[in-house]
Amino acid sequence: MISQKMQEAINAQINEELFSSYLYLSMSAFFEDMSLTGFANWMRIQAQEEQFHAMKFFDYLSERGGRVELLAIEKPEKNWPDIVTVFEETYKHEQHITAKINELVSIAADEKDYASGNFLQWYVGEQVEEEAAASEILEQIKFLGENKHGILMLDREFKSRTFQPPVEA
Ligand SMILES: [Fe+2]
Ligand SMILES: [Fe+2]
Repeated sequence: MISQKMQEAINAQINEELFSSYLYLSMSAFFEDMSLTGFANWMRIQAQEEQFHAMKFFDYLSERGGRVELLAIEKPEKNWPDIVTVFEETYKHEQHITAKINELVSIAADEKDYASGNFLQWYVGEQVEEEAAASEILEQIKFLGENKHGILMLDREFKSRTFQPPVEA
């Protein structure tokens, strides 16, 4: 059985992950509108990954005898001034999620909930990758600046991104 405090924290995190999915889906729509279909695809896959993160928490909470409670999902932004800002926000958002995961790790330690501590390690590792991916694209886009040809090359590259659920998930 999981503690009330841990259950509430995981339910809040399910909401964070679902909001992340919603935010990236909104960014995908923004790129579709700009006819940058590769960028739109990248964000759509990102949204699917966030859905996966949410469901992994969902299943874990059920498995521990907890009760999943779905909270209202905030409305995400619809527009951004430029591509750089989209990825600045993505990077910032991933840093926010990392902080949330770290808080969960602290709660698990306080509650002496070693199973949750162990489970959360997957997210600790995942966040390292999430931040690295967002930061790398942000740097590439900053580097390209006004180079439209370079942006289109990147767009073409992002068309090939596909969703792959992690093996040991
Ligand atoms: Fe996530
Ligand atoms: Fe993420």
